Amino acid sequence: MNNAKIHIRNLTLHYSDGLESLNGINLDIQPNAITVIFGPAGGGKSTLLRAINRLIDMADVEEVSGEILFHGKNILDLDTDVTQLRHKIGIVFSRPIPLPLSIFGNVAFGLEVTGEHDHKILQAKVEEALRQAYLWDEVHDRLDEPAASLSGGQQQRLCLARVLTLKPEVIMLDEPTSALDPVTTAKIESFLHEVKSQYTIILVPHNVSQSARMADYAAFFLQGKMIEYGKGKTLFINPKDKRTQDYVTGRFG
Ligand SMILES: Nc1ncnc2c1ncn2[C@@H]1O[C@H](COP(=O)(O)OP(=O)(O)OP(=O)(O)O)[C@@H](O)[C@H]1O
Ligand SMILES: [Mg+2]
Repeated sequence: MNNAKIHIRNLTLHYSDGLESLNGINLDIQPNAITVIFGPAGGGKSTLLRAINRLIDMADVEEVSGEILFHGKNILDLDTDVTQLRHKIGIVFSRPIPLPLSIFGNVAFGLEVTGEHDHKILQAKVEEALRQAYLWDEVHDRLDEPAASLSGGQQQRLCLARVLTLKPEVIMLDEPTSALDPVTTAKIESFLHEVKSQYTIILVPHNVSQSARMADYAAFFLQGKMIEYGKGKTLFINPKDKRTQDYVTGRFG
């Protein structure tokens, strides 16, 4: 066993439609770094993130085998405390899903659930998270308005702020900047670089250039299989597998 934060061992997952969405995945997620999971549509990237957060809709799943070890325990075990798991491993989706609450209420929600009701503390933590997610300047004077009144890109950053207030150990982001303009995208990217030493980050980027920009480690997924894994930019500069090479050079997508 090495120092990885999450150990994925032989993970295989079939949805009920019969196709194998993940096939024998072995992957160690290193702490204090960004691991990029990339590859063409349908490769199993979102399925992997959802499995790590136990968000897989079991009704749709025919079979899961293998292990996802986190603090020495298999996340897939039936007795996993899912609420606690989701506090330690937060997820931001490509399509933001704010709660039907105010902007403030969305960010404070997780803290209130864990028993924090001191309004001063909540205010300070909400502000801190909104600043980190580069949203504070746009919303500080309208915190009581419904979250639904925000633009898609703002809702995306709101969901990031919501995850940050919980001080998770791991942050997973599934195409978090696909709805954002280039300026906000650059801000989110620099935020992730700034904070990666404090977290373990798993990122599904929305294109190859973002993958190359962000990766401390990168894993190329194709049709449920992890084709290649490498440190730093090796997969983008010097891929070993022809399929990785074809994908990063834009020969298929
Ligand atoms: N709930 C589900 N029921 C049945 N099959 C599913 C379900 N969710 C995903 N799949 C299938 O699993 C495979 C992997 O899907 P997944 O969403 O993980 O891919 P992805 O790599 O995230 O793709 P994208 O880049 O389009 O987001 C696909 O073939 C998809 O059709
Ligand atoms: Mg996906």
